[in-house]
Order: sequence, then structure tokens, then C-alpha cells
Amino acid sequence: MAMKDREANYAPEKKVKKGTLLRIIKYVLKYKLRLFFITIGMIGSTLINVGASLFIKVAIDDYIMPMLLQDKANVDFLPYLRIILLFTLFLLVGVLCAIMYKLLMVTLSNGILMEIREQMYEKMQSLPLRFFDTNSAGDIMSRYTNDLDTLRQVLSQVFPQSITGFLTVIAIFTSMLMLSINLFVVVAIMLLIMLLFTQWAGRKSLKSYRKTQSFIGGLNAYVEEMVLGAKEVKVYCYEDRNVKVFEGKNNDWAKAVVKADTLSNILFPVSNSLGNILYVLIAFAGGMMMLNNITNYTLRGNGILTIGTITSFMTFTKTFSSMIAGFSAQMPFFVQSLSGAERIFDLIDVSPEIDEGTYKLEKTSKNSWQWNNGKNKVPLVGNIVLDNVNFSYEEGKPVLKNINVYADKGQTVALVGATGAGKTTITNLINRFYEIDNGIITYDGINILDIKKKDLRDSLAIVLQDVSLFTGTIMENIRYGKLDATDEECIAAAKLVYADSFIEMLPDGYNTVIKGDSGGLSQGQKQLISIARAAVADPPCLILDEATSSIDTRTEKLVQKGMESIMKGRTVFIIAHRLSTIRDADVIMVMKNGEIIERGTHDSLLEKRGHYFELYTGVVELD
Ligand SMILES: Nc1ncnc2c1ncn2[C@@H]1O[C@H](COP(=O)(O)OP(=O)(O)OP(=O)(O)O)[C@@H](O)[C@H]1O
Ligand SMILES: [Mg+2]
Repeated sequence: MAMKDREANYAPEKKVKKGTLLRIIKYVLKYKLRLFFITIGMIGSTLINVGASLFIKVAIDDYIMPMLLQDKANVDFLPYLRIILLFTLFLLVGVLCAIMYKLLMVTLSNGILMEIREQMYEKMQSLPLRFFDTNSAGDIMSRYTNDLDTLRQVLSQVFPQSITGFLTVIAIFTSMLMLSINLFVVVAIMLLIMLLFTQWAGRKSLKSYRKTQSFIGGLNAYVEEMVLGAKEVKVYCYEDRNVKVFEGKNNDWAKAVVKADTLSNILFPVSNSLGNILYVLIAFAGGMMMLNNITNYTLRGNGILTIGTITSFMTFTKTFSSMIAGFSAQMPFFVQSLSGAERIFDLIDVSPEIDEGTYKLEKTSKNSWQWNNGKNKVPLVGNIVLDNVNFSYEEGKPVLKNINVYADKGQTVALVGATGAGKTTITNLINRFYEIDNGIITYDGINILDIKKKDLRDSLAIVLQDVSLFTGTIMENIRYGKLDATDEECIAAAKLVYADSFIEMLPDGYNTVIKGDSGGLSQGQKQLISIARAAVADPPCLILDEATSSIDTRTEKLVQKGMESIMKGRTVFIIAHRLSTIRDADVIMVMKNGEIIERGTHDSLLEKRGHYFELYTGVVELD
């Protein structure tokens, strides 16, 4: 496969907007048994609710009206009480049905959310670094918070309400047609008007809610930048400017929300009053029909309208219109959460890092490893070759041009050059953090594309330029290099790289807890921990990216000594900002603007009196 094709896969797949709802439903369908009981509960509670309105007709026409006509002294209340009692029991069953399906719905929606959250996190672990270059942490975070939260509400509220709503509509329609086709026509006309109105308004608020969703993503990203760059903000006294920019963004968002909410708040009362008009209309039309003895058509046969029928009809329309009002109020919310779900699925759909490698790393004895792909076995020596490598982070902006590097087992290759020359980039490519545009990188003669990424990275320990420590103790952070290392091994590693002395000085020693982004430690101390991490991993190859920031001379000496002590016997790529670190390197590559312009040993390069000489003697500033 051509290199660019591999990368094309990193782009998020095309949005499948229509499929979003379907995809949510697919998650729901996995819970078959629960869904079965939920359906029963929903049907039960809907039928009983509709039945309650029908009961009014029976109560009026069959019990109350006859009682009114009877002689007051002889009225027999007993049958009426009996039916009321029966009806109460009936309603109780309805309540139980509702409780059952609602409780089940809670466990179902939480199960789905847990699954989706897990899928999101797992996907994030497998994403190429390129993804994190182009998506801000704030934006990613808001998918875990806002978007998941709206999805939760859809699953636990909107979904069940829509389904019970749908069932209610069918039950009410059928009951209405059984009671009076004449009145149904009145309802149908009014309903059509209400539906057209809600549809129009729904479409309007859909647009505005989409907007709010994207504004909040931007706002989060800005807050995140501020949090991460808190120091820089203070250094440059950007507080006021930041507050202004934030105010602008906050304003945009607030305006969008107000617009969206205003719309939905106008919608709700308007459709509500349309419902009230319908209520009055039914009472009026029904009364007129009854008084004028107009034939009432029903599915059960024709006759004359009764008071009971009209009253039932009025309760039906009330239920009906409040349902439509509820729907229209929820519509924007539903849309909002669908676009949230869309953003969640976008993340789940990003293609993961490609790993077509077959070679795995195997230990053959205490200190030797081999590459094995089932067919060939190649001893791991640590020969790393970059042959004519070209690379760009963004298309059309080449960062590395025709890079050739040869590192033999046990050799130390040093990369030097001004900032931005491309030193770190070279190490990013050896790790396969990024894929090269063309050329080839081999490891012991094997194309690194053919080595499983995990095994490739296992064979290399990397001390990054800016170290990230994780929440946990210092011991746990060192153990990150090799998860099954014992405490003794971690301490031995720390001693080997001279990190021990500063760790022992901390109040809790190795048990000192590091929080957030290790604010309490200096840059040099962080690098020492990172070097200890590499030492505990004990890999055949090493990549050391010296921190650019100046650290105090004492720590700097420690870091240098630490680096030296783990370099012995390994193939090492070292990026040095202080040239004294690399005097003994086997080969020094001098980089400028993405190209290697000189190579040789320290002495030969000095003799040459070229760029290195200038760097060394300070004619050209290094950083
Ligand atoms: N993730 C990225 N996306 C886009 N461009 C990048 C990215 N990382 C680095 N670059 C660009 O690539 C070039 C080389 O960067 P690189 O980090 O390799 O420099 P460096 O030699 O390590 O510098 P320093 O001495 O400051 O560490 C720079 O111009 C930089 O702007
Ligand atoms: Mg760098």
C-alpha cells in the first residue's frame, strides 16, 4: 500500500447523519429480554391511561345519568362504587406497569452509555498521534461530558416518551373512532394545523440547537488552552486579553442558546393554547350536535351523541394536545442530542493506527532478543537505518528531506541542530508515531512497517523532550516502563540513573504522589524519572530527547550522568541541546531545516570548521 493511502485512512470517515438514530437503536436492540418487558410495561400503561378516559364515558352514561333520573331516595350507589373500586385497581396496575418499564429503562440506558463510553476510551487509545494534533483536548472532553449527557437523556426520557406517545396516539385514535367519527373530523383538522406548526418550529430550533453545540465545543477548547497554558498567560499578562476573547466566545454561545431556547419556549405555550382551543371546540361542536340530534357515526354503529362521549372526547383531546406540546418542547432537545451522538460516533469511527506488522519481539536469553514472524527469525541487534526518508506533518509542508541515518549496534548517534530543525521528528518516525511519506526505515534489516507496533516500541525506550507523568506515586511512574517490575527493580533503576538522590529528598520518597501534570517537580527531575522509566524497561535501543529548557547545573549534570549510564551497550539516538553531552558519540548528525548537512565525529566535525564548528564555538546560537 502506498504510504499516502495509509494516511488517508486517518481521516474520520464520512458522517452518516441519517444512520445516527439507527445506530442508537442498534445499541438498544442488544438488550432483548429487558426490551421485551419494557414493551409490555409501555403497552400496559398506555392502554390503561387511555382506558381511564373511556371510563369517564361509561361512568357518566351508564351510572351517573341513570342515577340522576332515578328517585333520589332510592338511588343505589353500590354498583357505582363497585365499578369505581375496580377502576382504581385497574389504574394501580397501570402505575405498576409504568414503574416497571421506567426502572428497566434506567438500567438499559446506563448499560448502553457505559458501553459507548468504553468504546470511546478504547478508540482513543488506538488513535494515531495525528488525531491529537488536530483535535483539541477540550473538544474531545466535551464528547465525554456534554454529548454523552444529552445522549443519556434521550435514552432515558425522549425514547420511552416517544414510544409511549406513539402507542397512545394509536389507542386514542381507535377509541375516538369508536366514540364519534363526527368529532374526530374536528380533531383531525385542528391536529393538522398543530402538526404543521410544530414541524415548522421544530426545523427552526433544530438549526439553532446545532449551533449551540458547536459553540460550546469551541468554548471548552478555549478554557482548556487557558488551563494548560496558565503559566504563559501570566508571564505575558494576557489575562485581560484572554478574558475579552472568552467573553466574546461566551457571548456567542449565550446568544445562540437564548435564540434556541426562546424558540422552544414560544413553541410550547403556542401549541398548548392550540390544544385549549381544540378543547373548547369539541365541547361546542359536541353540544351542538347533541342538541340538534345530529346522527353520530362511529365504528360500532350510529346513534346520538351522549354527554359521556363528549366528556371522554374532551379528555382525549387534552391528553393528545399536551402530548404534542410535550413533543414539540422535546424536539429541539432530541435534535441536540442526536448531533451529540453524531460527534460521539465520529470519534468511535476514526480509523485506528494501522498495524500490519507481523514481526514480534521474543526474548531468547537473559540479554538477547530476536524478531520472529513465524517464518523468519532475525536476531535483534539494533541496526536502525533511515534511507532517503521524506516526511511532512501536513501535506505540502515537508519537514524532513532525504534523511539518511545509519546506526549500528551499540552506537550512539547524536542529532544536533537549531530548534525546529527536525530532530524530534526523526525519532517520532523511528517509533512510528507518524508514517513517513516515502523512503524506508529498517530495523535489523526489517522494514519497520513489518514489525508489530507494540513490539517495535517495546524494543525502544524513549525519554521524551517534554515528559508527562501520570497521577500516581513516583514508584508507579517509574514502573510505567515495565509493568511487572518490582519495587526493588524500580529503585535500582532510579539509582542507576542518579534519580535516587532527589527522590529520597522528597517528604514521601518513592511514595510521593504526583498529581495533575506533576507541577511540583522541576523539568530536570521529571526527565530523571523518565530516564529511570527507560532504565527499568531495559530495552536494546534508546531514544533520548534532551529537554530544551535550561535546568540548574546540578540537575543537568545528574541528567547527563543518568543518560550516560543507560547508554552503555545500547544503540542510542540522542538529541542534545548541550553539545558537551555528545562529545563521545560515534556519529554526530548536524541538522538544518529538515536536512542533515554534516556528519562525523566530534573531532572530525570540528576540524571541518563547518556548521557544527560554528554551533560549538557559539558563532551560531543553538536554540
Ligand atoms: N505535530 C506537529 N504538527 C505539525 N508540525 C509539527 C508538529 N511537530 C513538529 N512540527 C514542525 O516540524 C518541524 C520540526 O520539529 P521538531 O520537533 O522535529 O524540531 P526539533 O529539531 O526537535 O526542535 P527542538 O530543538 O525545539 O526540539 C518544526 O518546524 C515544527 O513546527
Ligand atoms: Mg525537539
